[in-house]
Amino acid sequence: MTMQTSASAKIILFGEHAVVHGAPAIAVPVSDLRATAAVVPGGSGLTINALNLNRVLPVEVASDVVDDALVLAVRKTLDMLNTPPPDATIHLGATIPMASGLGSGAAISTALVRAVALAAGCSLSDAQVNELVYEVEKFHHGNPSGIDNTVIVFEKPVYFVRDQPPELLHITRPFTLVIGDTGHSALTKIVVKAVDGLVAAQPDRFALVIERIGKIVWSARRAIETGEVESLGPLMDENHALLRDLTVSSPELETLVQAARAAGAMGAKLSGGGRGGNMIALTGEDRIEQVVNALHGAGAVRVFATRVE
Ligand code: MEV
Repeated sequence: MTMQTSASAKIILFGEHAVVHGAPAIAVPVSDLRATAAVVPGGSGLTINALNLNRVLPVEVASDVVDDALVLAVRKTLDMLNTPPPDATIHLGATIPMASGLGSGAAISTALVRAVALAAGCSLSDAQVNELVYEVEKFHHGNPSGIDNTVIVFEKPVYFVRDQPPELLHITRPFTLVIGDTGHSALTKIVVKAVDGLVAAQPDRFALVIERIGKIVWSARRAIETGEVESLGPLMDENHALLRDLTVSSPELETLVQAARAAGAMGAKLSGGGRGGNMIALTGEDRIEQVVNALHGAGAVRVFATRVE
């Protein structure tokens, strides 16, 4: 009998990069895009079949060397459960584009960790899954804040400050985001490292940028909780300008952000690691079609609207 687990994609609404350096950030799940793990019991030992990634991995638990994030996720899970590898094959799949700021890595790890527990006949709390996926994120990204794994594991909007317990956010008035993909992938690890370099080289200048982003995030939290959705637009524009100062925008992101604003979006910004990947545009119901068309016209390879509620 096949059993299945899954995990959603995510969008950072405000505060990416600054969150690595201690500022708050807000992220929401995108439940329509998912990573899945199907567990087929049987066989001998545990095999991970990652066909989307073109990989089939027998999980050898004897070796001390772990050079693969999927194997690391399995090992850490079995260690936490204190159980040997179950006899099963786990088939991984995802409808989340890779390396595009939507959290594909954390979503795959989350689905996999849950699947290993299921295959072993054990259960893990969301807090335990979050702890495990954060370990894998460190392997992927070097210096992750922990926001991606948190929003994906809990699959709820979060207000997040590094090394503090996440706060779940209540969306008082739902709103729509149009998401546009530049089609250029960028590794978060490399972009985060570049920002680290800037902050180290000019600490005074970039401390101010990070502080200003933190204030934007705080105002955005208030607007979300009081239902003043309209005021999120200008906050997104301001956050985008500061991300540009952090050098994480790109010509393609600029083109899409401008196109969305010109088509009537209330505000727009890049989302996630940047230098490629996706941008988001806060869009009134009467403008969705125009913004979607404008983003296609400006070169987005994939555009979709998602409701944040
Ligand atoms: C990536 O989705 C978000 C970043 O802030 C990195 C992180 O928080 O670990 C760019």
